[in-house]
Amino acid sequence: MLIDTYGRVATDLRVSLTDRCNLRCTYCMPEEGLRWLAKPDLLTDDEIVRLIRIAVTELGVTEVRFTGGEPLLRPGLVGIVERCAALEPRPRMSLTTNGIGLKRTATALKAAGLDRVNVSLDTLRPDVFKTLTRRDRHQDVLDGMAAAREAGLTPVKVNAVLMPGLNEDEAPDLLAWAIEQGYELRFIEQMPLDAQHGWKRDGMITAGDILESLRTRFDLAPEGAGERGSAPAERWTVDGGPHTVGVIASVTRPFCRACDRTRLTADGQVRTCLFATEETDLRAALRSDAGDEAVAELWRKAMWGKKAGSGLDDPGFLQPDRPMSAIGG
Ligand code: GTP
Ligand code: 5AD
Ligand code: SF4
Repeated sequence: MLIDTYGRVATDLRVSLTDRCNLRCTYCMPEEGLRWLAKPDLLTDDEIVRLIRIAVTELGVTEVRFTGGEPLLRPGLVGIVERCAALEPRPRMSLTTNGIGLKRTATALKAAGLDRVNVSLDTLRPDVFKTLTRRDRHQDVLDGMAAAREAGLTPVKVNAVLMPGLNEDEAPDLLAWAIEQGYELRFIEQMPLDAQHGWKRDGMITAGDILESLRTRFDLAPEGAGERGSAPAERWTVDGGPHTVGVIASVTRPFCRACDRTRLTADGQVRTCLFATEETDLRAALRSDAGDEAVAELWRKAMWGKKAGSGLDDPGFLQPDRPMSAIGG
């Protein structure tokens, strides 16, 4: 079991498969990209599967989320999913992606055993998409989502970040569209995890702003009190249901007290939180021939360093030195 000193048990493992991406979202990375991890520093497919096996069979992990960067850029993804689906007990598996490339891979991923996908889409306007992501790939994302829905990678959840002056007015349009398409929409508050350190608390769109904007067009009612559990999204039923909309208010209403997550970076470091300041090097252990039990023990100990919260509200808050794309979103 992965238990921290506050009694929280981590059953949800987020695995970053690469720090690279084919978009350049302004809230994430600069136009020129980042200094990517070198190939020898990345875990191999075998190393990733071994660590997931240890997490599932020895440490009580039941949910595995593949993230990036953009996880569809990892050539071995389908094989990794297939091998994880053969584990006993079989973990639930999902993927968080920008959607480009899903058109090509959705069917194979479903066949390999992936359960569902979350796709990022911040705007319905191709020109705004281009400004926000610095790439002209809006239609590819829409096609990718549809392919995931057709392949049965459902529910398809859509993640949207609202940025002042760009897409801040789009919340109601996005919700109407998601309902029509059969996707589950969630809005995410922008977090200080961009490589450029451009986040400003007083410049961000808050959960309160988003709900106010949605209420100009929809009736929202909180979905069953206390049902949020460890999910980061708080959900609201729309116009009496059955459709819902989620808000992930990591900044203004953090869910740290119920956090059930542990993370693995593409270069094999355990991080106990997006905002952790420390990492535990499992890659070094793997490459010095440590046995499964020794690796499991390192992971258990890493969890003891998990902090109570993100520290965002602490006066001395320091943004983590790795950006979100290198930690795993
Ligand atoms: P599901 O609802 O089960 O699909 O999970 P999820 O919402 O965690 O999945 P997803 O990967 O789509 O994450 C959505 C967003 O939640 C991320 O982009 C983050 O903004 C936020 N998030 C995910 N994990 C964490 C975390 O450990 N801490 C905080 N503060 N936010 C997180
Ligand atoms: N704040 C909030 N969400 C972010 N994402 C990427 N960077 C940030 C940030 N700084 C989102 C992406 C994607 C998910 C993995 O994280 O839009 O949906
Ligand atoms: Fe790529 Fe995701 Fe970062 Fe956008 S937010 S640049 S899609 S890693």
